[in-house]
Amino acid sequence: MRCHDVIVVGGGLAGLRAAIAVNERNVSVAVLSKVHPLRSHSVAAQGGVNAPLGNHPRGSYDNWEKHAYDTIKGSDFLADQDSVIRMTREAAARIVEMEHWGCPFSRTPEGKIAQRPFGGAGFPRTCYVADTTGHAMLHTVYEQTVRFQQAAERKEMVVYPEWLITNLVVEGEECRGVVAMEMDTGRLEAFMAEAVIFATGGAGRLYGNSTNALINTGMGLAVPYWAGIPLKDMEFIQFHPTTLYGKNILITEGARGEGAFLLNNKGERFLANYPDSRKSMEVAPRDIVSRNIAKELLEGRGFEGAYLLLDLRHLGREKITTRLPGIRDICLEFAGIDPIDEPIPVQPGQHYTMGGIDCNTECETRVKGFYAAGEAACVSVHGANRLGGNSLLDTLVFGHIAGARAAEYVQGKTKREQGKKVLEETLAKVEKKIPKLLASTGTELPSKIRNEMQGLMLKKAGIFRDAQSLKEALSELRSLKERYKDIRINYNGRIWNQALALALELEGSLDVAEAVVTGALAREESRGSHFRTDSPKRDDQNWLRHTLCFFTPEGPRLEYSAVRPGPFKIEERRY
Ligand code: FUM
Repeated sequence: MRCHDVIVVGGGLAGLRAAIAVNERNVSVAVLSKVHPLRSHSVAAQGGVNAPLGNHPRGSYDNWEKHAYDTIKGSDFLADQDSVIRMTREAAARIVEMEHWGCPFSRTPEGKIAQRPFGGAGFPRTCYVADTTGHAMLHTVYEQTVRFQQAAERKEMVVYPEWLITNLVVEGEECRGVVAMEMDTGRLEAFMAEAVIFATGGAGRLYGNSTNALINTGMGLAVPYWAGIPLKDMEFIQFHPTTLYGKNILITEGARGEGAFLLNNKGERFLANYPDSRKSMEVAPRDIVSRNIAKELLEGRGFEGAYLLLDLRHLGREKITTRLPGIRDICLEFAGIDPIDEPIPVQPGQHYTMGGIDCNTECETRVKGFYAAGEAACVSVHGANRLGGNSLLDTLVFGHIAGARAAEYVQGKTKREQGKKVLEETLAKVEKKIPKLLASTGTELPSKIRNEMQGLMLKKAGIFRDAQSLKEALSELRSLKERYKDIRINYNGRIWNQALALALELEGSLDVAEAVVTGALAREESRGSHFRTDSPKRDDQNWLRHTLCFFTPEGPRLEYSAVRPGPFKIEERRY
């Protein structure tokens, strides 16, 4: 059995920042990641990271209070205000740290970190590296990981790439470690740890039209959910307004921040026709812009009933090639068009999971020694709708906090022998389950079940939902879960068995999808990204509360918890 003081599951920005925070405190740490850390989904983030630096003349009066207010209003007032204040107060320090670590931020003419407008702020607050901000930030943090690994004076920092997590091991109220499978060999192992941090990203691939990497199956949420930790606010699924038509590759909000227009089939900048986006237009928050695009499509003002146009042409070649080179490449490669000369066909696509593993502002869950950070966690800073640019910030701030808290928690503790027994028992159970799965000769293909799940989630639990569509989604998910019991796996070797990984993760995806739909069906109001056509108004009287979803073998059980208020007053949300 392998032993580390702290295990971080997930090698993206939140995971690596957490691991560094642990090791900075001279505590041994291991990072287990399903893919090489540099292939984590953080690498795909494009437009930027928010911090109230006030470097742009239009935002020179910015400060953490303004950033906090915008975030809370953006969240449709569901975010916990203490968590948001924590994040916005620490934002500048984390960005300066990244700069000192060598992150190649785009610059103002005076050499300061450049900032561009993003939704919900009203002025430029989003720091960026052209349109490949996640790529630059992940490489920067990975370089630091390598530096820490090589520092002889510190305790060890180990990275286990390409290990798929199968179980979180909890005994009583304490976390004991994890069980994982090495993809390269198919070998299962138990990892004993005093503390475990999950930073496994979101569950975008519950949906068919996601901007997320294929790795974002939701397994990182399912594993703690199965271990008794509730998932919070799962009904809030963000749709990004602009993804490339048909492919759903992200077309960054940075394009609209730089001045691109959204046009319907009449050539109108239609956002002016909606009261909630009339003022801010293309830089209104995402829930609003996505919904208004969806309305245009439903009412026949789209193209082929499926897309609208994002027009960058007036920005000119120079701006497009320097600030949005990645977008241009994506359009050239995947749509055969050059946005310098032609508008881009776009449609909304699933982008972010606002909900996640229930934890507090310190990233602590109700299980001692178990922490969560980044998109996998629900701290909650994003509430019912995340502002663009706050995701990368969340990874840095709460990755750092989770690592610091976990390191403090393990100080002075010695390896607990009592954890060994439960870890060995869990390992033995998984070791029995895998050969059974590999030998299964049922009639159902996991890939077919997954595709059906993705289709029904998009159709029945998408931008618009109602009781009828959600009830249908729930019943269809339950029948997919029944069919899952009769799967077959076409390849039964142990080495790099992707079919086995798909089958294992699909079980998690189906349970997490059920949590999304159950929360959405219960919440009879509209708030942020959750729009119920049968209850189109926000209902603060009854629903200003968080949904907590507990796993039971019979299906999800819901409880509710209070939203933590603060200095910012609840108001109507127009932009
Ligand atoms: O549009 C974007 O570049 C995405 C940013 C984000 O999700 O924060």
